[in-house]
Amino acid sequence: MGDDSRALAVMPGELATKARQLDPYPWFREMRAQGAVRYDDARGTYDAFHYDEVVELSVEYERFGKEGTSFLDGAWMSRDPPIHTDLRSMAENYFRPSYVQEHYGPAVERHVERLVDEAVARDGPFDFVEAVAKPLPILVIAEMLGVPSEKLDTFREWSTALIGAPTEPTEAAKQDVQERMLAAIDSLNDFFRDAIERREDEPKDDLITKFVQAESAYEHIERENTVACCGMLLVAGNVTTTAYMTSALWTFIEEGTIPELQGETVDLGDALEEVLRYRTPVMPQKRIAREDTELGGVEVPEGSLVTGWLSSANRDEAVFENPDEFDPTRSYDETPIPFGKGIHYCLGAPLANLEAQTLFTELLDRIDGATLATDEITPYFSPEIYGAAELPVTLRT
Ligand code: HEM
Repeated sequence: MGDDSRALAVMPGELATKARQLDPYPWFREMRAQGAVRYDDARGTYDAFHYDEVVELSVEYERFGKEGTSFLDGAWMSRDPPIHTDLRSMAENYFRPSYVQEHYGPAVERHVERLVDEAVARDGPFDFVEAVAKPLPILVIAEMLGVPSEKLDTFREWSTALIGAPTEPTEAAKQDVQERMLAAIDSLNDFFRDAIERREDEPKDDLITKFVQAESAYEHIERENTVACCGMLLVAGNVTTTAYMTSALWTFIEEGTIPELQGETVDLGDALEEVLRYRTPVMPQKRIAREDTELGGVEVPEGSLVTGWLSSANRDEAVFENPDEFDPTRSYDETPIPFGKGIHYCLGAPLANLEAQTLFTELLDRIDGATLATDEITPYFSPEIYGAAELPVTLRT
């Protein structure tokens, strides 16, 4: 188990207002102008804001490790090589773009069709988050893992508890979030320990069975790691993909992109990629310095927590022209990094993209237009996730 203060992402004081949660970008710009890296005493972390240093933090895994940065410490997301290598390779084959498309494409389409049918049948305004963006990722990953759909509400609760973060750096706030997080991890682990044992006697055509059958082939994998990995997969892609799909519709309405997408003067894949740069769903990534080192000209002692702000890197004016403009036709010299980079590059990126691509292909085909049914977007209040907590919309069919 990692040091508590590192496993919890604490809200930077500067982002702790509703207005800043909705628009953190002026603050990121200000911080980039002040320098590449700063130390925040209140949260006990170095913060990196420039693209180059955020990439350096991601790819230099021997200098900047992940061990101890999360409470889900059995899973590979928070481990370093060699165990990270084994755990990741156990799952990697099932998350490659071609595998995901071939094996899970039909399930994604089935869920999308039903959710879009229900959405277009609505007469008035409805919350796109609750109706579409929240259910889709959880339905898909639950089916992939082979867990029952009656438990979806519970899985969602666990997912939400696991990305919980204190919104202020007080001990009481940390304690509260930590207790809920640890309880969710216990429940998640109990659930998967049991499911894994049952697969040993009764194999099924699902990912849990594939992991159980593969684990003995890997030197560094113990049963508890497999348990933690299933839990991680169940929760890692929920809140993130929900935020992604919500930001996509929000941005397409706000920027008037829907007719261009329907007329195919703008490519949907390009527009979705630009949404991920413009409204990056996972704002920070955390690392711990494994040696005395340096980042962006600032000395970083061994053991220090370092936070790299992906959301700031993706708006870095040194890399992206007019970074605060949503431009789905832009071309890149350097690619945006909404899914991180290096050995911890998001395993679920092809799945998240398949879900978003399938959803918007279907939705844009079925509507004449869409409008926001509110003047005021409520942000997802979190130091980790950027997005709208609710998106009231009206669809014109
Ligand atoms: C738009 C949706 C998503 C976003 C923005 C996102 C973002 C990220 C980021 C930034 C990382 C790297 C963190 C770091 O380097 O510290 C990551 C890692 C990861 N993501 Fe995602 N993610 C998304 C969806 C998913 C989905 C759908 C799944 C699985 C079902 C998933 C599973 C993972 C896993 C397992 C890792 C750890 C990879 C490793 O450490 O080797 N993610 N994600």
